[in-house]
Amino acid sequence: MSVSSTEREGEGKPRFSTTALAEVEAIYARYPPEHRRSALLPILHLAQREFGGWLSHEALAYVAELTDIPPVRVGEVATFYTMYNLKPVGRYHVQVCTNISCWLCGSDAVAQALQEKLQLQWGETSADGRFTLSEVECLGACVNAPALQINDDYHEELTPEKVTEIMDRLP
Ligand code: FES
Repeated sequence: MSVSSTEREGEGKPRFSTTALAEVEAIYARYPPEHRRSALLPILHLAQREFGGWLSHEALAYVAELTDIPPVRVGEVATFYTMYNLKPVGRYHVQVCTNISCWLCGSDAVAQALQEKLQLQWGETSADGRFTLSEVECLGACVNAPALQINDDYHEELTPEKVTEIMDRLP
């Protein structure tokens, strides 16, 4: 998560850092001018990184203003995709795929091992803010199912023993 997230003094409104604004321009450069609105997804991803790993109402309003896209459209996109977090998450966001390939390869046992190890149910965050445990749809790693994602890292071909080791190794 970025430490460069900014809030305007006294107003509490999220604002991109200068670095992030430069990144927005770099994102826009990938799209033809007539398809500029398609940059919304990577800009939301950038906002999530900038604003502490999640998108508040204020952050969504800022992105709408920045991109000149109606707030309702920004909200529709942000609520459709599970990779956008609409409430705060822990330092480690553990996202476990339980979709068909992972389920057939044992994600139930992996999920149970994780829930016991972290003492969390789906959607919960540990009291110390270290872990959030989420159940997600296909992570696109079906060939090496079962899979999970911790922040930006993928872990595949999981077993209950392997996920326990992964959790123990986290700093
Ligand atoms: S079904 Fe789990 S990664 Fe595709």
